[in-house]
Amino acid sequence: MARIAVVAGDGIGPEVVAQARKVLDAVLPDVQATEYDLGAARWHRTGEVLPDSVLTELAGYDAILLGAVGDPTVPPGVLERGLLLKLRFAFDQYVNLRPSRLWPGVAGPLGNVKPGEVDLVVVREGTEGLYAGAGGSLHRDTPAEVATEESLNTRHGVERVIRDAFVRAGRRERRKVTLVHKTNVLTHAGSLWARTFDAVAAEHPDIETEYQHVDAAAMFLVTQPQRYDVVVTDNLFGDILTDIAAAVTGGIGLAASGCINPEGAYPSMFEPVHGSAPDIAGQGIADPVAAVLSAALLLEQLGHSESAARVNAAVGAELASRVPGATLRTEEVGDRLAAHAVA
Ligand code: NAD
Ligand code: IPM
Ligand code: MN
Repeated sequence: MARIAVVAGDGIGPEVVAQARKVLDAVLPDVQATEYDLGAARWHRTGEVLPDSVLTELAGYDAILLGAVGDPTVPPGVLERGLLLKLRFAFDQYVNLRPSRLWPGVAGPLGNVKPGEVDLVVVREGTEGLYAGAGGSLHRDTPAEVATEESLNTRHGVERVIRDAFVRAGRRERRKVTLVHKTNVLTHAGSLWARTFDAVAAEHPDIETEYQHVDAAAMFLVTQPQRYDVVVTDNLFGDILTDIAAAVTGGIGLAASGCINPEGAYPSMFEPVHGSAPDIAGQGIADPVAAVLSAALLLEQLGHSESAARVNAAVGAELASRVPGATLRTEEVGDRLAAHAVA
C-alpha cells in the first residue's frame, strides 16, 4: 500500500490536486492519502508555515503530492521559501525532473513542430544555486541600498545531478545530454559545471553531449525544441527554461514535475510546474492535466509503472479530444481522466 501526503496548498492547488487524487484512487485503490493543511490559509490563521513536527511527519511518507503555494495576500517568499523550497531542501530533492512533450492533438504555438517531435526532459538542480538563500542587503530603503544574492554550487551537488542526467539519457532512445549554463559570464560556477560535465561525459562515451549558453538555449527552445533530449542545468536556469518548454508544448497547464531524492532517503515530491494562478483561482477552470501527469510521475517513482501508463494513456485521449478554444471545467476533466484510467 502506498502512503502519500497531500499538500494541496493555495489558489488552484486544491482544485487540481482533487483531480489528481481522483485519478490516483482510480488506478491504485489502496493508496492511502493524508491531507496536510499548509499554505496561505494556515499562515493567516496561525502564523505557521511549516512546523518542524509536520516536516518530521512528512518525512515518513512514500511520496508527497503538492498542488501549488503562494498567494497575493502573503508577502513574497514566505510560502515559496518557507514551505516549497524548505521541503525540496529538507528532503534533498536534488533532481527536479521536468519532462515536456508535444502530445498528439495539442496545438502548440509553433508551426514547425509536429506531435512526437518534441520529447525532452529538463533535469534541473533542485537544492543549490541562487535558491540556496545566501546573500543579504545593506542600507535598506536608503539611496545607498545594496542587495546581493549568491549562487551556491558544490562539486558534490553539481556532480550528482549531472550523473543523474547521464543515467536518464542512457535509458532514452536519443541518448543525448545538453548542459545549459552561462560559462562566458559566470566563470566560477560555470567552470565547475563545465568541468564536472566533461568528467562525467568521459565515463559515458555512448552518450552524445553538447553545451549551450542559457540565452541561446532559451532561443532554441522556442525555435527548435526538437533538438533537445535531456537538458541538465542549474536551479534558476531550469526554472525559467521549463516555463518556456511548457509554453511551446501546449502551455503550463500540461507541465508536470517531480522533485526527486533518487536515493530514497527522503520522500520525493510531485507537483505541477505552474503556481497557484490567483487570476483564475476559484473559477473551476484550471487545467488539472499538469497535476494528473505529476501523479503519474509519482506512480512511476513508487514502481507502479502499469498504473502510470494508464494515467498517461488517459491524458493522451483527453488531449486528443480537446476542441481548441473550448472552455474547460477542472472537475469534468478530472472525472473523464479517472474514468478512462480505470477502464
Ligand atoms: P502561475 O503558474 O501561477 O500562473 C501563470 C499564468 O499561468 C497565469 O495566467 C495562470 O492563470 C496560468 N496557469 C497556471 N496554471 C494553470 C492551469 N493549471 N490551467 C490554466 N492556466 C494556468 O505563476 P505566477 O502567476 O507567476 O505565480 C502565482 C503564485 O504561484 C506566486 O505566489 C508564485 O510564487 C507561486 N508559484 C508557485 C509554484 C509552485 O507551487 N510550484 C510555481 C510557480 C509559482
Ligand atoms: C517552480 C516555482 C518555484 C521555483 C517557486 C515558487 C519557489 O517557480 O516550481 O517552478 O522557483 O522553483
Ligand atoms: Mn517556476
